[in-house]
Amino acid sequence: MGRIIAIDGPSGAGKSTISKLLAEKLGFMYIDTGAMYRTAALLALEAGIPLTDGRRVAELCGDLEFSFRVEGDRVRVVCNGRDVTAAIRTHEMGMHASDVSKNPEVREALVELQRALGRRHDAILEGRDIGTVVFPDADVKFFLDASLDERARRRHKELAEKGEAVTFEEVRETMRKRDMNDSRRAIAPLRPAEDAIHIDTTGKDIPAVIDELVQHIRERIS
Ligand code: DC
Repeated sequence: MGRIIAIDGPSGAGKSTISKLLAEKLGFMYIDTGAMYRTAALLALEAGIPLTDGRRVAELCGDLEFSFRVEGDRVRVVCNGRDVTAAIRTHEMGMHASDVSKNPEVREALVELQRALGRRHDAILEGRDIGTVVFPDADVKFFLDASLDERARRRHKELAEKGEAVTFEEVRETMRKRDMNDSRRAIAPLRPAEDAIHIDTTGKDIPAVIDELVQHIRERIS
């Protein structure tokens, strides 16, 4: 079993940027579990399977192989040899992923893949339920958060840089809905593990947050 660092929190809290940099710094494997739910939604849509059909979407997920290649501050998501990065990183696919992630069968299939990856490597997993469900015995657990306005600003900037025509208000509203969707679902809702370290990233720059996390990690992992 590798050493596991769990990073959970709502969208736009800075999880991705921070997890990637931290993984590079510590030499851990980076696993983006949100990208796995996004890919499940993408493949289901392409196959014409309704996102509510948990059994059929889960069947699609059973034999998927993911790799996450960190290249500087970007990550390439490759699923069964196909680069899905651009297709899954859209505003819309975030909401579809949130919908597909409500299905227990889909969660079961993807959690199994996540555990198998984590068992083989020292890994940093980012998501919503890593510290509560996927790896409740993780060596270190963080819960990253920030105000809704700041999270929406960050996400809007990211999407604008990629050329997606979406307004700040739209991003903010979708984010609010997605948070509600993720926090209120019956299975593995977004919530901090009891032993998670809470970090509010509002107004903080990335290097400062990384330093804070590294300090906690060093105290817990030798
Ligand atoms: O982190 P993200 O925005 O890429 O995640 C997309 C959606 O996937 C998110 O709205 C909820 C779902 N998700 C989940 O249910 N459990 C995870 N561990 C990660 C993501």
